[in-house]
Amino acid sequence: MKIGIIGGGAWGTTLGQTLIDNGHEVLIYDINIQAVEKINQHRHPFFDTILPDSEKATTDLKEVIDFAEYFILSVPTKAVRFVLKEMNLLLNKKVTFINVSKGIEPETLKRVSEIVEEEISTDHLNGFVVLTGPSHAEEVILRKLTLLVSSSKSIELAKEVQMIFSNDQYLRVYTSTDLIGCEFGGAVKNAIAVISGACTGLGLGENARAAVITRGIIEIVRVVELMGGKRDTAFGLTGIGDLIVTASSENSRNFSAGKKIGQGISIEQIYAEQKQTIEGIRTIEALHHLSQVYHIDLPMINVAYEIIQNKLSVEDALPKLLSRDLKSEDF
Ligand SMILES: NC(=O)c1ccc[n+]([C@@H]2O[C@H](COP(=O)([O-])OP(=O)(O)OC[C@H]3O[C@@H](n4cnc5c(N)ncnc54)[C@H](O)[C@@H]3O)[C@@H](O)[C@H]2O)c1
Repeated sequence: MKIGIIGGGAWGTTLGQTLIDNGHEVLIYDINIQAVEKINQHRHPFFDTILPDSEKATTDLKEVIDFAEYFILSVPTKAVRFVLKEMNLLLNKKVTFINVSKGIEPETLKRVSEIVEEEISTDHLNGFVVLTGPSHAEEVILRKLTLLVSSSKSIELAKEVQMIFSNDQYLRVYTSTDLIGCEFGGAVKNAIAVISGACTGLGLGENARAAVITRGIIEIVRVVELMGGKRDTAFGLTGIGDLIVTASSENSRNFSAGKKIGQGISIEQIYAEQKQTIEGIRTIEALHHLSQVYHIDLPMINVAYEIIQNKLSVEDALPKLLSRDLKSEDF
């Protein structure tokens, strides 16, 4: 099968290697010429790894569109709408999107599947699948065991993508039809990972991390259920699974960004130092907006929002959370 990859960063380039391992052909599109050149020299743009000879990249979007009928979306969520508009102008056939970006649009609160439906005309849209779950690119590039979920409103499409990515060496993919639960789970966990990192930056320990992860899953469940997803999805790979890997690892850019926030480094400086995507900070903004619109209680996320807006110091965040009304944990 021929698969186009839109975004040749850490994750897109890594998935390209997996697809080639599984016998598929890939062509990557990226606006960053340095990344494209590196891939064409068989070097991963972010990791010290040699890529398969057949993994190629281009800065020409039309070339990728002509090449494939399946497209992986692996650009940051904030670039998704822009790139889809460009694709819609160039498309002259029906294609399937496999989204791996994890986020929601802060202004519209839209998931990526909804953005695809808005931007790609029905004449060009065959279907949408999200491929998500606990997956550091740093490990998948080394072919270390990883489990993912392929979710779509269409179980046939979800199964197709399950087959495309699964292998008996290191990658096993489950299916799901709870697209809303999978998309929100993958987005909210990045916000919680920033908060978990902030606790570490503040000098708190493993007790605090366990508390943030556990109460974080409650915030994920609230969002998933409110938006029409299934509670059980939040307790699977795409919710708690992805939360554990992201909220407890220095490999995570979201965790690392949070750690810097906890150390008192400004958001502006964090963005200046980290050129790669940090979805969690933008997702905190989106979830704060969501909690205002739907009047839903997301205490950790809303305190994190005040910090990133410079309305609350990191030192004052804990007393603010701890002085809330005492509650029961009975579910
Ligand atoms: N890195 C991981 O381990 C991982 C794992 C699972 C999911 N994800 C998700 O995948 C998405 C991408 O993450 P990443 O780590 O690969 O980020 P990255 O910053 O390493 O790569 C993003 C790439 O997109 C390119 N890009 C940006 N705007 C573009 C545009 N308009 N057109 C074409 N290319 C454009 C950039 O040049 C860059 O090469 C994020 O939403 C992230 O949450 C990442």
